[in-house]
Amino acid sequence: MGLPFSLTFALGGLGLPLLAAGSPIHSTAENSQLDLGNGFALAWTGTGIEITQGEQDIWYAATPFISASAGNDSVSGSNGAFNITEIDYDLCADQSVDAVQHVPWNLSTTGEAVEVSGQLLECGDTSTPYSLTLWVPSDLPEHIAFYIDVSQRAAVEPLKKLYFSYSSQASEDIYGLGGQASFASLKNQSVPVLTREQGVGRGDEPITSIENANGSFAGGNEFTTYTAIPSYITTEGNVFYLSEKSSAYANFDFTKPDEITMRYDSLSVDGAIAKGKNMFEAVERLTEATGRMPALPSWVDNGAILGIQGGQSKVNRIVQEGLNISCPIAGVWLQDWEGTHTQAGPYLNISRLWWNWENDEVLYPEWNEFVQNLRSEYNVRTLSYMNVFLTNVSTKEDGYRRNLYNEATELGYFVQNTTTDSPAVISSGPGLEAGIIDITNPDLREWFKDVLRTRVWNANISGYMSDFGEYTPVTSDTSLQNMVSDAFFFHNKYPLLWAEFQRSVIEEFGLEDEALIFHRSANTGANRYMNLFWVGDQNLNWGVNDGIKSVVTIMGHMGFSGYAQQHSDVGGYTDTLTYQGINVTRSAELLGRWGELAAVSSPVFRSHEGNIPEVNAQFYSNASTYGYYAYNARMFVSLAAYRRSVLNNECRTKGWPLLRPPVMYHTADARAREISYQSYYLGPDLYVAPVLDPETFEVSVYLPGNGTFTHVWSGEVYNGGQDVTVPAPYGQPAVFVVDGTETPELETFLEFVRQENGTEITVE
Ligand SMILES: *[C@@H]1O[C@H](CO)[C@@H](O)[C@H](O)[C@H]1NC(C)=O
Ligand SMILES: *[C@@H]1O[C@H](CO)[C@@H](O)[C@H](O)[C@H]1NC(C)=O
Ligand SMILES: *[C@@H]1O[C@H](CO)[C@@H](O)[C@H](O)[C@H]1NC(C)=O
Ligand SMILES: *[C@@H]1O[C@H](CO)[C@@H](O)[C@H](O)[C@H]1NC(C)=O
Ligand SMILES: *[C@@H]1O[C@H](CO)[C@@H](O)[C@H](O)[C@H]1NC(C)=O
Ligand SMILES: *[C@@H]1O[C@H](CO)[C@@H](O)[C@H](O)[C@H]1NC(C)=O
Ligand SMILES: *[C@@H]1O[C@H](CO)[C@@H](O)[C@H](O)[C@H]1NC(C)=O
Ligand SMILES: *[C@@H]1O[C@H](CO)[C@@H](O)[C@H](O)[C@H]1NC(C)=O
Ligand SMILES: *[C@@H]1O[C@H](CO)[C@@H](O)[C@H](O)[C@H]1NC(C)=O
Ligand SMILES: *[C@@H]1O[C@H](CO)[C@@H](O)[C@H](O)[C@H]1NC(C)=O
Ligand SMILES: *[C@@H]1O[C@H](CO)[C@@H](O)[C@H](O)[C@H]1NC(C)=O
Ligand SMILES: *[C@@H]1O[C@H](CO)[C@@H](O)[C@H](O)[C@H]1NC(C)=O
Repeated sequence: MGLPFSLTFALGGLGLPLLAAGSPIHSTAENSQLDLGNGFALAWTGTGIEITQGEQDIWYAATPFISASAGNDSVSGSNGAFNITEIDYDLCADQSVDAVQHVPWNLSTTGEAVEVSGQLLECGDTSTPYSLTLWVPSDLPEHIAFYIDVSQRAAVEPLKKLYFSYSSQASEDIYGLGGQASFASLKNQSVPVLTREQGVGRGDEPITSIENANGSFAGGNEFTTYTAIPSYITTEGNVFYLSEKSSAYANFDFTKPDEITMRYDSLSVDGAIAKGKNMFEAVERLTEATGRMPALPSWVDNGAILGIQGGQSKVNRIVQEGLNISCPIAGVWLQDWEGTHTQAGPYLNISRLWWNWENDEVLYPEWNEFVQNLRSEYNVRTLSYMNVFLTNVSTKEDGYRRNLYNEATELGYFVQNTTTDSPAVISSGPGLEAGIIDITNPDLREWFKDVLRTRVWNANISGYMSDFGEYTPVTSDTSLQNMVSDAFFFHNKYPLLWAEFQRSVIEEFGLEDEALIFHRSANTGANRYMNLFWVGDQNLNWGVNDGIKSVVTIMGHMGFSGYAQQHSDVGGYTDTLTYQGINVTRSAELLGRWGELAAVSSPVFRSHEGNIPEVNAQFYSNASTYGYYAYNARMFVSLAAYRRSVLNNECRTKGWPLLRPPVMYHTADARAREISYQSYYLGPDLYVAPVLDPETFEVSVYLPGNGTFTHVWSGEVYNGGQDVTVPAPYGQPAVFVVDGTETPELETFLEFVRQENGTEITVE
């Protein structure tokens, strides 16, 4: 870590005179070095605390390293589109360290922890005690857990949040914090951790400004994300994470060159630090604590999962067409299985859904038989759709059998509004009001599990999109049955409980080898409950912050957050028609390039029609679009053996992501550190530069390191350490074999390349 001083006092130098430079004004603790366990030691130097392990510097924090403030952060917006304004009064200006001592601690390797305690000073005109306790957990002996506790002061305005600062370096780059979509390294950014709608545009213009006009926050910004996770790893191999129960709003301030400050919206917090010898070991460390994703069912390797809406006969026709043109089809994903809930929009209606978890009797009248038939006739599985809401279906034109909304209202199973003493109502745009099921209520869980058993899984489906999780209101009139603290504190926790619930049902039903359940919203520890992450709703364009490019950026940061298995909606999701002279709709070219990206980046290939299907190019639009899609699906299948070996040998066992930003291998390389979407490693043996721009038929790509890169399509071998430009016509994303690796797992892919080398793909 390269600390700003060297540790000059002897081991066990309890009570030695002050040796380090700088003089603490208030502290009364004597310099000391205390054993933490497993070779870790903590030293108080008079101006800071340092953790070492043998000769190695692990961590350093100069005083003041803990602070606190009063003031309630203000959250505007609702329905998932939250905008937060941080408010601080009486930020404590200084800190004393009065004691550094061993205290008994049950769960540590030594039975003890080191407690650093003292006063936070000049918080307005008061001071207040704090403690920072550190220990080496017996079940995670390479981690140093911490617990910070700030006492409430006796004053008119209570303290509300704490600050924790420790050293970094100008040259330390930072990755992770969940689904970050706009930056490579997060150094120099201040990153909020709040699960919410990611916004439409997120900084890509002009759409963001249009969406954010007139007080709306629907456009979001570069930091809005469905999944914000309070964990990161750095190019120095440093690991930091908060525990699962630390779900309060947090902010990680990386804007200072030599210091990181975490701001946390509560007066106590726990988490841990660790150090890996490189970024791979760092991810291993992180995921040994936060969990690793369960295995993907083997059937996902067999082909594409076709996202289709429109009913049984349309689905049957499109499946048959695909099989006729040798499109490998693993499944169909039918999000409208429960009916299309049209939503008024500019010019055209938007295709939304009826959240009532039973099949729509007009679109899918023989749902169970239909699902079974796809399976037995074509070996095609069916996925459906599910989320955390229930909507009142009494106005559904196609009718309904059960009104789950009415039942849940009656039973008190929704998140409640204590002002109105009724379910808290969310709106997902005009006309789509719904209640959020209270996932903390054990009775709701039983009831909902029965719904899943008798109305969802009973059709012999193979999984679903498990949508939303970000909408739990944060106002003080929000009530859940078993929430810790208040709704704002609880907010980030919902996605974790939702994923945990879904997984528990899968396990109870014995569906671990069959079910594919993909979430877009998650938190620390939710990775152990989902076998697939989906990177959320992108715009149907080439944008950096919210278009096709952001898919790669998100996958990179999510991988560094412990989510090894990810995919995107092939083609994107969000159509926007506006009266401001701009429309975002999908071209056939975007669909084709997105399919290429999925084929060479993800363990699952699944497409989406988008939210206004009729204005988009669809894979089944014509022979050209379906031909390109089928080609991409075959390319995806040709990589199955390779992906499986990486998933089994590295992702499952070590938590390493399948898609790896170049910095992971080349931490010291300044160029590699800046790459967010331009290129990545797929497992250890392939390096990929996807085409993410329109009408672009060659790519310039930086090849890091000093090894060789064999461009698969041309056979050309390039040395690392240079930029090269290679042809990339439709169907030929730039894929390189790293260091001439020859493995049997790559054979099917290289055979595909040889066979398709001359194939000309057209886009119409
Ligand atoms: C902050 O929130 C607390 C609890 O909701 C409330 O009692 C207090 O009045 C609020 N303070 C301000 C300044 O709004
Ligand atoms: C969101 O909040 C920030 C901080 O208060 C403010 O500067 C910004 O204008 C808000 N954004 C929108 C779109 O309201
Ligand atoms: C630690 O262990 C002791 C003895 O078993 C027990 O009495 C105490 O409650 C435990 N403390 C905690 C915090 O678990
Ligand atoms: C952060 O800012 C420093 C100083 O301006 C700059 O040298 C460095 O490249 C920046 N890092 C990132 C990741 O933006
Ligand atoms: C914002 O409000 C103005 C004035 O009412 C209106 O003309 C404009 O269309 C609105 N913009 C959006 C994006 O709704
Ligand atoms: C599939 O091919 C068969 C045989 O050529 C043909 O009869 C059938 O109409 C095709 N089906 C579709 C949906 O294109
Ligand atoms: C939108 O949906 C409404 C209600 O389903 C329908 O009456 C209307 O014709 C639709 N509008 C368009 C443009 O399709
Ligand atoms: C659902 O909608 C119907 C029709 O508007 C209404 O009668 C019923 O009370 C609603 N259910 C609840 C629980 O509000
Ligand atoms: C509760 O209802 C009131 C009145 O409609 C509203 O102002 C408030 O935002 C609601 N709170 C929640 C948590 O839904
Ligand atoms: C946007 O799409 C609508 C509906 O297709 C169309 O009427 C309108 O002309 C389009 N606007 C632009 C600027 O293309
Ligand atoms: C190539 O890079 C590796 C890893 O950085 C390094 O260990 C090795 O010495 C380098 N080899 C040459 C020939 O520069
Ligand atoms: C692909 O075709 C080009 C041009 O004919 C040829 O140079 C190259 O060797 C071929 N690549 C493979 C992998 O067969």
